[in-house]
Amino acid sequence: MKDQKLLWVGLVFVALAVVGFIFIDFTPSGWAHEHKYEDGEEVYLWMNKVGPFPNPQETYPYYSLPFCHPDKLIHSDTEGLGEALVGYDLIKSMVEIFFKRDIERKPICSKSLTKSEYEEFREAILEQYWYQMYLDDLPVWGMVGESYEDDAGEKKVFIYTHQKFSLSWNGDRVIEVNLTSENPVVLEAGSPLQFTFSVNWQETSTSFDDRFRKYLDKSFFEHQIHWFSIFNSFMMVIFLVGLVSLILMRTLKRDYARFGKLDDEDADRDEDVGDESGWKQIKGDVFRSPPRLLLFSALVGTGHQLVILVFCLLCLAALGTYYAQRGTVVTAFIVCYALTSFIAGYGGGGYYARNGGKKWIKCMFVTASFLPGIAFSIAFMLNTIALSYGSLNYIPLGTLIAVLAIWSCISLPLTLVGTVVGKNWNGTPEKVRINQVPRQIPEKRWYLQPWVHILLGGVLPFGSIFIEMYFIFTSFYKYYYVYGFMLLVYVILIIVTVCVTIVSTYFLLNSEDYRWQWTSFLSAASTAGYVFLYSVYYFYMKTKMSGFFQTVFYFGYMAMFCLGLATLCGAIGFIGTSMFVRRIYTMIKGD
Ligand SMILES: *[C@@H]1O[C@H](CO)[C@@H](O)[C@H](O)[C@H]1NC(C)=O
Repeated sequence: MKDQKLLWVGLVFVALAVVGFIFIDFTPSGWAHEHKYEDGEEVYLWMNKVGPFPNPQETYPYYSLPFCHPDKLIHSDTEGLGEALVGYDLIKSMVEIFFKRDIERKPICSKSLTKSEYEEFREAILEQYWYQMYLDDLPVWGMVGESYEDDAGEKKVFIYTHQKFSLSWNGDRVIEVNLTSENPVVLEAGSPLQFTFSVNWQETSTSFDDRFRKYLDKSFFEHQIHWFSIFNSFMMVIFLVGLVSLILMRTLKRDYARFGKLDDEDADRDEDVGDESGWKQIKGDVFRSPPRLLLFSALVGTGHQLVILVFCLLCLAALGTYYAQRGTVVTAFIVCYALTSFIAGYGGGGYYARNGGKKWIKCMFVTASFLPGIAFSIAFMLNTIALSYGSLNYIPLGTLIAVLAIWSCISLPLTLVGTVVGKNWNGTPEKVRINQVPRQIPEKRWYLQPWVHILLGGVLPFGSIFIEMYFIFTSFYKYYYVYGFMLLVYVILIIVTVCVTIVSTYFLLNSEDYRWQWTSFLSAASTAGYVFLYSVYYFYMKTKMSGFFQTVFYFGYMAMFCLGLATLCGAIGFIGTSMFVRRIYTMIKGD
């Protein structure tokens, strides 16, 4: 009954999220230009960012390097919320390209470097700086220069002075753009540098819809290991589900038979079955509300929201083309998060009220601000660092205020409504007898302690997702686009997490320990702890990232991600387990 209501509420918000997505998709940034050109019309080239090649998050505005720049910087005015958040700032380049017009070597500017400009360039080239530009929303990359050591062991530094653009067109659209950096010149202070470019157009038969294909690394993402990992996880799911049903069905049946309360026919069976121990002994305590009820309700509420939110986002992403638009994933996440806040309030408020909580306004605030608050604090810290480095990752004040406004005008009210509705619809306490005095938890072996469950609970769920994690982490370098896989892995993760926490809770209850709520939540949440450890491994072993800035940003983002993942998994584990617990204990209600 309650679950049915939750299902309906969930569906309503799926619908809302879809509306939200459509809304995002129609924002000006996607539709600023129809991507259609007349012959000879200017195709704008936008300079975006420049930064060290090994450090994907360490980015600076292109004109922070002493390239010659126009007197007045023209910023692209079609920037969306997501673009500002992930650090895009498009500035019109001095290179002028016209649709279908070839240009022979043409000067951009000439410039002689001062001593300090020379130092800046030298340092940038030694750190392998590269830059990114956009042309008709297609990304273009180029290296600033190159360096090598000559035989005498002296560092030679060259800067590229010629940009060769090869473009292709189909009908009235731009299909492809290649940039070749040419004409390296020894970097010296004082001597003039002549920057030039050339443009060459050719016709192609590739269609406009396929033009993004070349950025998607098919052989990498659809590599056999991907299929293998899915297959592997799938086998694990079958195995686990089989195991859970086998163990539980058999054990429970035996337990019921032993307690002699399963059926009426059994009622006349011998009551004193020697060792009356096990989960049944704690039926007067198992529904006792967990300690720190308010925090727990907020976490469970937020987890409910994340479960549905992630599912919606992945479905939308699997259907759409997130990768082709800058920052869409982030915008979609924020807007959908705000729209699904109702679910958090509903789940959290309902749970809180069912367990006799009275401070529901406080509960509502904690639910609404728990994750956003932590994410905001981390973002604030990163932003301070980005500001002091003059990085492009700095989030402008206006954008921060916009995000805050979305939170306070959409998320907060929706959480409030959700809490009130949850409290009234879903908040009637269950009619179970709870002992006045909490039962003492018996002494037990170390491996039955809750912390062991918590530590080990995450191993299998992590095992089912870690290969996908590898692919997700490479999205620092490549366009991640196989959201269909991710959706599949998500479903597998849910099943594995639920199975594992049910088994672990069964053992916990059987050792007459009724502290299952936090234990099941945390043992599922520990998956995120393993993901974080994996990200540390990835950082040191698989990337060449270095420096304070990149390290802080990497781990800051990972902390946010793992926190969300912990809440998500924790809630999945807890929801599954509480269904299980309710089921086994209501079957013995009869006595
Ligand atoms: C761009 O480079 C790729 C790979 O080298 C090549 O296949 C393609 O034809 C080039 N396109 C243009 C327009 O030059």
